Amino acid sequence: MTEGRLRVGVLGTGTVGQTLADRLSELGHDVRIGSRTASSDVVRTFAEAAAHGEVVVNATGGLVSVDALTLAGAEHLAGKPLLDLSNALDHSVGFPPKVLATDSESLGERIQAAFPEALVVKTLNTMTNAIMVRPRTLPGPHTNFLAGNDAEAKGVVRGLLLEFGWTDEELIDLGDLTASRGMELYLPLWLRMLGAVGNPLFNVHVVRAADS
Ligand SMILES: NC(=O)c1ccc[n+]([C@@H]2O[C@H](COP(=O)([O-])OP(=O)(O)OC[C@H]3O[C@@H](n4cnc5c(N)ncnc54)[C@H](OP(=O)(O)O)[C@@H]3O)[C@@H](O)[C@H]2O)c1
Repeated sequence: MTEGRLRVGVLGTGTVGQTLADRLSELGHDVRIGSRTASSDVVRTFAEAAAHGEVVVNATGGLVSVDALTLAGAEHLAGKPLLDLSNALDHSVGFPPKVLATDSESLGERIQAAFPEALVVKTLNTMTNAIMVRPRTLPGPHTNFLAGNDAEAKGVVRGLLLEFGWTDEELIDLGDLTASRGMELYLPLWLRMLGAVGNPLFNVHVVRAADS
């Protein structure tokens, strides 16, 4: 993989995909956005965007992520870091949506099982999209988690997170992809905090003892 400018396929045309794609482009990366239907030079099919990327971002709805990644094609995901920020939320029940992760299963792991050659790295799913790509929007330090089975892929994703403005101290590596269970199960708490805080521009900060 080349240092510096990366080719990135951002799968997802919703607010989150657009936010990630805009920020990555602003940072000088060569981005294609994936959709079911190509509609411009930048918005291509899921398969074209994934084929373009040295790194692929899954920013599709959690309930349809495996479908979208199937359209992207396992062969276009193989051997590549797959930054997965999705949450499996069932909005059909009204607000708050039902969170489908359990303490024995997560969407991150389901994606990894469906695409065993992809290098899934779960991160950024615990905050609103504006903060994902501009963490300095919030005053002071705050926390973003990472989980994944491949150390090199986590390193590539960490590099992009640092470019977004995260610091090393703010990035907590929780280990292998089973940690995405906890990351996804955090959503019920996040949704309650959204109600209490009144807007989505907040995050948590893991504070450590000075000598740890
Ligand atoms: N909102 C936030 O700030 C936030 C924060 C943390 C995590 N997330 C997660 O980020 C992800 C993206 O959220 P979003 O609100 O931006 O987008 P979204 O509306 O959840 O997803 C949009 C994408 O899903 C694709 N899609 C919809 N139905 C499909 C199907 N049947 N088969 C294949 N693809 C399908 C759409 O394809 P087309 O392009 O063809 O329409 C589109 O690209 C979600 O998993 C969400 O939980 C969001």
